[in-house]
Amino acid sequence: MQFAGSHILSVNQFQRADIEAIFAAAARMEPYAHRRRITHVLDGAILGSMFFEPSTRTRVSFGCAFNLLGGQVSETTGFEHSAIAKGESLYDTARVMSGYSDIIAMRHPEEGSVAEFAAASRVPVLNGGDGANEHPSQALLDLYTIKSEMHGRGGSIDKLRIALIGDLRYGRTVHSLCRLLSLFDGLTVHLISPKELRMPEEIVETMCNSGHDVSETEELESHIAHVDIAYSTRIQEERFGSREEADLYRGRFRLNQNIYTKNCEPNTVIMHPLPRDSRAEARELDNDLNANPNLAIFRQTDNGLLVRMALFAMILDVVEQVDSEARDVGWYTGSRY
Ligand code: CP
Repeated sequence: MQFAGSHILSVNQFQRADIEAIFAAAARMEPYAHRRRITHVLDGAILGSMFFEPSTRTRVSFGCAFNLLGGQVSETTGFEHSAIAKGESLYDTARVMSGYSDIIAMRHPEEGSVAEFAAASRVPVLNGGDGANEHPSQALLDLYTIKSEMHGRGGSIDKLRIALIGDLRYGRTVHSLCRLLSLFDGLTVHLISPKELRMPEEIVETMCNSGHDVSETEELESHIAHVDIAYSTRIQEERFGSREEADLYRGRFRLNQNIYTKNCEPNTVIMHPLPRDSRAEARELDNDLNANPNLAIFRQTDNGLLVRMALFAMILDVVEQVDSEARDVGWYTGSRY
């Protein structure tokens, strides 16, 4: 695809070559994301960051990614701080905000809303999550992490064995990730969820039609026994009618060190898009996994910066100028990476 000037609304936009191009650009962002070099390639550019649902990682890492390329961020968080609360349409909001920004990242609780906004926008729009539908940049950073973790273990995304665990009905990250995985070859995919929270049929069909070996089950332990990746998700309480309804499913599929040691192969990578629900009644990934070197959840969040920097650089067409606008950092940077 042509990245310069494009919206990023769905992973369905990507072919395998596009993903490889994003990953190549993401790898080039490491010196900047890891605070060894500074670039000012987006000096003067403004990101409109519009988040109408709670977010820590996506909102802040889109903002930091833009800052790390030298740009400025203008934030709107929550409907209550936007004229949408006074009845303004997405169309009018998009016409206005795209006059103030060079690019926009947006999260909205309704499926299709970010695409509706993008259709009226005069600048590129990146979908930071639209209801239970899609979360393209999360899927890209998850896949980047999978590639990197598998590379470190002598494997690849092709022939990957993966278990996706939890709320597969409302979890937009797993929807986007499964669509991306469909572009690869020969995967074994276990979809582990309560039957009421199964993966949407259309996505299961897409994976089956891609030749992957897909199973759906409510049983955790035997289905995490022979996988490379165990990818856990939170019960998406905000998509349920009530907290009580979400409570029916919370805590059904817990992974802790004991269950991991008893069932998983020793190198199985543990992933989660975060936030993990750490309340006692949930704990889908227990804190006792924190010392497990195969817990990749914070490598995922770090990789989010690389992937989001790559998307900005590609869409604003500055990938080749990043290094020429750079210098070494002058402050103490520690050894966090
Ligand atoms: N993974 C993710 O979307 O996290 P946030 O809700 O914190 O952005």
